[in-house]
Amino acid sequence: MSAIILDGKAIAKRIQDEVKDAVAKMSREKGVVPGLAAVLVGENPASQMYVKMKRNRCEEVGIESFGYEKPADITQEELEELINELNRDPKVHGILIQLPLPDHIDTDKALQTISLDKDVDGFHPINIGRLAMKGREPEFIPATPYGCMILLQEAERLVQGFKISGSNAVVCGRSNIVGMPMSLLLVKANATVTIVHSRTKNIPEIVGKGDIVIGAMGRAEMIKGEWLKEGAICIDVATVKVDAPEAPKGYIWKGDFEAEAAKKRAAAITPVPGGVGPMTIAILLKNTLHGAELALS
Ligand code: GUN
Repeated sequence: MSAIILDGKAIAKRIQDEVKDAVAKMSREKGVVPGLAAVLVGENPASQMYVKMKRNRCEEVGIESFGYEKPADITQEELEELINELNRDPKVHGILIQLPLPDHIDTDKALQTISLDKDVDGFHPINIGRLAMKGREPEFIPATPYGCMILLQEAERLVQGFKISGSNAVVCGRSNIVGMPMSLLLVKANATVTIVHSRTKNIPEIVGKGDIVIGAMGRAEMIKGEWLKEGAICIDVATVKVDAPEAPKGYIWKGDFEAEAAKKRAAAITPVPGGVGPMTIAILLKNTLHGAELALS
């Protein structure tokens, strides 16, 4: 078997184009330009890069982006005061607090300060709680897991006989940002979900039962191709920078799957890079547009 490559870059571009058209229509017909406030605390280079990418993509689709760069020693009170200001600002329809926050900040308390109708990351405990409850829907779904679900729907379209509903899904990783909300979304979509984490015994055996395998650990090539069930659908969330002296830049990106071996057994797999990564930002744009629609409704 040679796996179908799920082209996240192309799907993200389609979503981005749809958001761009809807933003233009909203500006023209309602006089409202969707706005995203991105709050960055400290000087973590990866966080700086992610926020820059998110703000650039906002500009590309006509969403106004407001950047707030705060020192690493900001107090809890100062951060919550800023969030409350953004909650009141009518030009801001989405508030993104880039994570992780410094250790002295109570992240949960900060995220709870975000107004529910501006919680475009979907990390407010009430939004996560609704995701976990049967018959309830969150106002916003966290961007990366939402992007993974769209990629799985693409696999349903491309892989004969594959259905998310009724499948066995194995989610590797239990982070608040990806693994846990991903598991909850899969349960909502009627999959039977097993979560694999650092204390799990018999990981190869459990992964081998997955019709769907989600790699969300950030451990380069940890999931071996030979573990996979023949015909599995593999979604690789990780992007790990690995030294490669022979590569032009001196490094390459790897995901959680042993990609070449996985392609021989999987029915479909996302590439790294160009799979889940582009979807995350596209969904953030979509969620910000939704925030503006909520403000208008
Ligand atoms: N840090 C890593 N991923 C994310 C994300 O999706 N949103 C925010 N706010 N922080 C992150």
